Parts: sequence; structure tokens; C-alpha cells
Amino acid sequence: MKKIQISPSILSADFSQLGNEIKRLEEGGADMIHVDVMDGHFVPNLTIGPPVIKALKKNCSIKFDVHLMISPVHKYIEAYSDAGADIITIHPEATDNLKSSILKIKSLNKKVGVSLNPESKINLISDYLKNIDLVLIMSVNPGFGGQKFMPEVLDKVKQLKKIQSQDNMNFDIEIDGGINFDNCKTVIEAGANILVSGTTVFKSNNGDIKKNINLLKLK
Ligand code: DX5
Ligand code: ZN
Repeated sequence: MKKIQISPSILSADFSQLGNEIKRLEEGGADMIHVDVMDGHFVPNLTIGPPVIKALKKNCSIKFDVHLMISPVHKYIEAYSDAGADIITIHPEATDNLKSSILKIKSLNKKVGVSLNPESKINLISDYLKNIDLVLIMSVNPGFGGQKFMPEVLDKVKQLKKIQSQDNMNFDIEIDGGINFDNCKTVIEAGANILVSGTTVFKSNNGDIKKNINLLKLK
């Protein structure tokens, strides 16, 4: 079984202190930093772009797990790679040619993630599972932190896990949205090995990041 990793989303951080917030996450045992990039078009919210990511990355060594919720995504991939993304995750609906966007990310020597919204089916990406590093299952409709976990996506996690072991593949299964202490065990048992968490990591237990990360890891 893969090691369980936590990727805290800085969407729930204090944006006036982003650099310090990332330091707190590193010290608290985060395995990577989840950066939610939104364009006000693919999703109904706007966040940050390459210059901010570049500035943040300069001051730390932790991996940046960059979740691009922007469309059309293809022409911006290189900018996020240059800014310091280590994992670049895209949505199939946000590109005209998923294969060429995957190849673009690979050509930049970055890990490739593909994300499925709650409504999106696995067959959208089945042809590519052998060539990608990670599948990000959305357990809320993307756009905002603090939403309620949608348990109906667990079937998709289980199906992916099954396909993965049948075909001997090695992609990570990441889950994003509404992850908390009540559902983390269930999502891990279903097959997820990377848990994204904004609200729970930053706000639970008076913001005790280390404790929250450990609890999400079932420690
Ligand atoms: C939603 C984002 C998530 C979100 C997670 O569009 O992709 O990463 O910030 O936040 P919580 O854990 O608060 O649901
Ligand atoms: Zn995200």
C-alpha cells in the first residue's frame, strides 16, 4: 500500500501571510502544498497565478501540487512549470486535446495529474491512465474551499483502485474537497493515498496544523 500523504490547500490560509503559512505547513509535516489556481471562467472563483507561485516557491523546498482550474489550460502549462510547480493537474474538460496537454507537462519534466469533477466519468481518462502520475478525484464541485464532501464519488475511487491493480499501474489517487476527520478513514480505505485539505488543516483544533495532519493520516 502507498504511503498516505497530505497536501494542504493554501486556499484556506491567511493570504496576507502566505509565505509564513507555507512555512507552518512544512513544519507541521505537510507532504506537499496544494495550490488551487482558478480563473473565474472554468470555475466561478479567482485565485492566484504564476508570479505568486514563483515568489512562494523561491523560499521553500517542499513540492508544489498545482491544481489548474483554468480553461483553456494548454497555453498556460509552461508558465506554471516555470513558476515552480512539481505536479501539474489539469481537468480534461479544460483542454481541446488531453493527450497533447499531458505530453506537454511530461516534456517539462513535471508530474502529470488529471482531475475528475464529481460528474465526470472515468472513461474520459481511461486511455491515459498508463501515462499519468496522478488522478485527482474532486469530492466537491471545484471553486471554493469549505464545501461538503460528496460521498457518491467514493465509487469512482474504488473503481480506479481496481483498474490500477488489475492493470498493474502506479498512479496516485488524490482526493480533494471536504476532507475531514470523519471521512478520512473511508477515503483511504476506498483507495485514495493523497488527501487534499484546506479547512480541516487550517481551522480545526485552533489551527494546530501538525495535529490536524497527523489525524488525517490516521496517526
Ligand atoms: C476546491 C479546491 C480544493 C479546496 C479544498 O475547488 O480544489 O482544493 O480548496 O478545501 P476544503 O478542504 O476546505 O474543502
Ligand atoms: Zn484543489
